[in-house]
Amino acid sequence: MGKKLIFFHKEEFSTYKSMMTNKGYIINSITKYLNSNDILENFDYQSEIIDLSSLTFAFKNDNLSFQLEQLLPFFSDETIFIADVKYEEVLTYELRYCFDEFEDLEIELPKDNKPNIGVGKSFIKKKIIDLKGDELKNFWNEFNGRLYGHQKFKDDFFKLVNVFNIFNALGEHKILSLFVLGDSGVGKTEIARVLQKCLKGKNKLAKINFGNYSSKDALNSLIGSPRGYVGSETGELFEKVKESDVGLILIDEFEKGDTAVFNYFLEVLENGKMTNSQGEEIDLNGYTIIFTSNISKENFKKVISPELRSRFNYKVHFSLLFNNDKDKFVRYRLGEIMNKFETKFNLEFPNDTHDNLVSKIEVSKFKNMRDLNKEIKDKFVEYITQTVIDNDENLEIDY
Ligand SMILES: Nc1ncnc2c1ncn2[C@@H]1O[C@H](COP(=O)(O)OP(=O)(O)O)[C@@H](O)[C@H]1O
Ligand SMILES: [Mg+2]
Repeated sequence: MGKKLIFFHKEEFSTYKSMMTNKGYIINSITKYLNSNDILENFDYQSEIIDLSSLTFAFKNDNLSFQLEQLLPFFSDETIFIADVKYEEVLTYELRYCFDEFEDLEIELPKDNKPNIGVGKSFIKKKIIDLKGDELKNFWNEFNGRLYGHQKFKDDFFKLVNVFNIFNALGEHKILSLFVLGDSGVGKTEIARVLQKCLKGKNKLAKINFGNYSSKDALNSLIGSPRGYVGSETGELFEKVKESDVGLILIDEFEKGDTAVFNYFLEVLENGKMTNSQGEEIDLNGYTIIFTSNISKENFKKVISPELRSRFNYKVHFSLLFNNDKDKFVRYRLGEIMNKFETKFNLEFPNDTHDNLVSKIEVSKFKNMRDLNKEIKDKFVEYITQTVIDNDENLEIDY
């Protein structure tokens, strides 16, 4: 038996990856092993898969080619090697002495994992611009109902989307970008969660927290490292956007990003597409990108450059919610918790429970909705421990 190289189609990659991850494998780019003997010595073919895709760029460099031909025999024949099928021609030729077999990956893709033809994404993305007629009406009803308060923003956003729909169709406006400022816990991030729900997204929201992207090499982890370097991969941004099923990206804690990361996004907003270090592109036409930040209104101009500021289609400062909006939030949250509890433990609360609990919560004391949410939970637990559990010895709850 000799060595085998398996080619995958990029639509297959995420399914293959999760399949193999479940079996205990991790997939590493060959570049990881190029410069380190330690890593090579500790290599375990039963838990590591090697992706050779990035080699394609190495063959232009004779030194590297030579190094590679020496490197590959170190891996046992059982090692699983994979590569993107788009490099099939180069790799089958350049590696003709290293491998005995070349094969195509054959896996069943899940039904909803249809490739988005033309742009090579894993999931079809539902976007705001796709909504028409009743679907659009329902979208707005739901959006207004789920996001409490911020009426001026909601009115503006409605108009903004109408303008976007038209000018996107005319080819003049690719990405709808919002910049949301304001104190903690007033619903900045919630906008994106609500949009995701209203677009009927089933997968994870494509959320990037720039708090994790403040170091000098931040751009590498965001969009992958340059060709041929250690750790070369597609980058977190690409993976998240591909896995999402809505045309929406959330960038949290925007002000914390490194300058290179800012500049990258400047380009994304300018060109309507994102490109990673491997030269792979994702067309973001019709996307909504929400940037949030805790910086004060005053610091906004200091921290965010004029070029970047002018790229955002809409900037808004979220003020604290009014008491009546907080009240609505309390009523909704309590109702939600009580319903879940009733279903889970198959019981029914007395009719006045909801109102009684609502009246125990003084919304004016709370500015941050996270704190208010905690108060709701505390009051609920207090009620449960005092009444239900005392009265019902059969109730078992895992705390
Ligand atoms: N305007 C709002 N409408 C609905 N829920 C909200 C609102 N503001 C805050 N919340 C609730 O409070 C939590 C924290 O809000 P979030 O948007 O994450 O805060 P931040 O403004 O710091 O991003 C959310 O999970 C949500 O449940
Ligand atoms: Mg937030």
